[in-house]
Amino acid sequence: MRIACIDGDGIGPELMASAREVLGAAAELDGLAVEFGAEAGGAGTYLETGEPLAAGAVERFRGEYDAVLKGPVGLPEVRKADGTEAGVLGGVLRNGLDTYANVRPVRLLPGVRDAADPIDYVVVRENTEGLYLSRGSGVRNERAASDQLLMTRVGVERIVRFAFETARTRNGAPVDGVQRVTCVDKSNVLRSFAFFRDIFDEIAADYPDVEADHRYTDAAAHDLVAVPGHFDVLVTENFVGDMLSDLGAATVGGLGMCPSGNIGETTAYFEPVHGSAPSIAGQDKANPTSQLLTAAMLLDHVGAADTAARITRAVESAYADRAVELNPDGTPGCGTKGVTAAVLTRLR
Ligand code: NAD
Ligand code: IPM
Ligand code: MN
Repeated sequence: MRIACIDGDGIGPELMASAREVLGAAAELDGLAVEFGAEAGGAGTYLETGEPLAAGAVERFRGEYDAVLKGPVGLPEVRKADGTEAGVLGGVLRNGLDTYANVRPVRLLPGVRDAADPIDYVVVRENTEGLYLSRGSGVRNERAASDQLLMTRVGVERIVRFAFETARTRNGAPVDGVQRVTCVDKSNVLRSFAFFRDIFDEIAADYPDVEADHRYTDAAAHDLVAVPGHFDVLVTENFVGDMLSDLGAATVGGLGMCPSGNIGETTAYFEPVHGSAPSIAGQDKANPTSQLLTAAMLLDHVGAADTAARITRAVESAYADRAVELNPDGTPGCGTKGVTAAVLTRLR
């Protein structure tokens, strides 16, 4: 199996080193041959080359590799003339590879913290349109600026179907045991979101075995904190999904706990939910759990479910055994390398 690696910026290289070590060791135990290929990407690459991604990388991701594992990219000080960041890869990869579904599981692992509800849901974030489609084409002058949000029928239908299929296959366990998809929208105010919600209701009729549920975006933010055990799968617009996935992370030990997958019809790539955390970079402080669970998602996606489960189980027991404990700021007490070591010793 050939896995492309984008190490990225800030804490990216430390996290990717941890993931390669754990993925390599788990694959070896399962007799799976893995080869890692390096692809440059991020703010550092932009500063060196004037482009945020190595030339030809998108084509190689489509053709030459079985999967793509990405660390966080971007540095807040590396900006273009329009004021937006130069080193992020959302447009290049998400639209370039048409990975329309951004799958962001939020799960509280045993031992991380006490919580009234079990927390185990997936945010399915639309990844190719919504407000983000305005990327690079918003208008801005001295007095005003605007960006336009676009939702298409094809785009909404495919993400809603993806969410219902996810609910069917994941066997999630909300506290009441009901498999459900919650449509998160602002259809009380905005036509685009009313369009999203109407299409959601149409598609829901094809899935009578899954409950169709609704929350407005503001109430969803509240309920994800107050009653997280209600949720199974949430489906929403790109920008809303960006915010809710970080909010969810805060309820399960922080951003360092949360993996994600960007899934298209033919190509997928995998990365943590968080960014490059520049203030803790290079100090052995970052939590690599997000990147390790991301590696497990990647393996699961390419059909190596046993190796994926081996990594997930090892991560779970590292927390359950209290070998890894988190500081209030979400950094692990034992450091990045300590987490890696704790997981490595539990792979067997
Ligand atoms: P961030 O996610 O990097 O950091 C937010 C907070 O979470 C910080 O306090 C940080 O220290 C902490 N944090 C993040 N990951 C952590 C980990 N693994 N372990 C422990 N603590 C962790 O968000 P930001 O500061 O807003 O953005 C920094 C840069 O990352 C920006 O350039 C931004 O554009 C970029 N970014 C990239 C991605 C991506 O590559 N997918 C995602 C989000 C942000
Ligand atoms: C994410 C990030 C990206 C986004 C940024 C870095 C472009 O925050 O993956 O959640 O906004 O989608
Ligand atoms: Mn984000």
